[in-house]
Amino acid sequence: MSTYTENIRKITVRHLAEMKQLGEKITMLTAYDYTMASIIDQAGMDVVLIGDSASNVMAGNLTTLPMTLDQMIYHGRSVVNGVKHAMVIVDMPFGTVSGNPMKSLEAAIRMIKETGADALKIEGGEEIIEDIRKIVNAGIPVMGHLGLMPQSVNKYGGYAIRAKDTAEADKLLRDVQLLQEAGCFGVVLEKIPAELAKKATAQTTMATIGIGAGADTDGQVLVVQDMLGMNKGFAPKFLRKYADIHTVMTEAVQGYIKDVKAVDFPNKEESY
Ligand code: KIV
Repeated sequence: MSTYTENIRKITVRHLAEMKQLGEKITMLTAYDYTMASIIDQAGMDVVLIGDSASNVMAGNLTTLPMTLDQMIYHGRSVVNGVKHAMVIVDMPFGTVSGNPMKSLEAAIRMIKETGADALKIEGGEEIIEDIRKIVNAGIPVMGHLGLMPQSVNKYGGYAIRAKDTAEADKLLRDVQLLQEAGCFGVVLEKIPAELAKKATAQTTMATIGIGAGADTDGQVLVVQDMLGMNKGFAPKFLRKYADIHTVMTEAVQGYIKDVKAVDFPNKEESY
């Protein structure tokens, strides 16, 4: 299948806006290291996200809250080194954008300078809108993140679907408008009713990227370990698993153990 972005050397915010206009879906997947990022990029992904979900899938933490700016910079740099074609977006971790625009700008500039990423993703709406405005005004492209915001998990008391009631749905639609006015080029909509995501997508010129938000957003994002089936225990309704890498890896590792124990590896051809 030919796609809008296949002949573009490097995808930018301008291309995402054009894809929204043309109605071509935007593909986005997370990566946290060089090797995975290279594979995803060469496979033809539009956007690679260095999510602070690195806290869960790379570090084994229960939440994204412990992730630091330095740790995100390390993952960000590693991914940027592996990506040539896709747009690269990196998450600002918990506590780095929280209502002090000058401090937020300093952290944002450090993130862009030290990772080489193309843009930032920031969780939150009205409460941090001045921070976002300041960062965008400094020339840094920003993607918002509304709906289920994992950095606020302790405020919600869990990871349940958000914006099911009218008050929260109305606030989300207001926040979409505010993010657009602040200059964001896109917004992730996480775990909200499909009808609400459709409405938000229709009301904004920003590219909307859904995860657990139905089929009517401008694009989709998943965590790469989840869609590759690496986490056996993680199976939310919105997740489609495209491989069973947990089984593939387990069998490969067991094969290696068996061969070493049996003195079958290395053989003569594998020795100097
Ligand atoms: O941190 C992350 O991986 C994310 C995506 C799930 C959107 O924010």
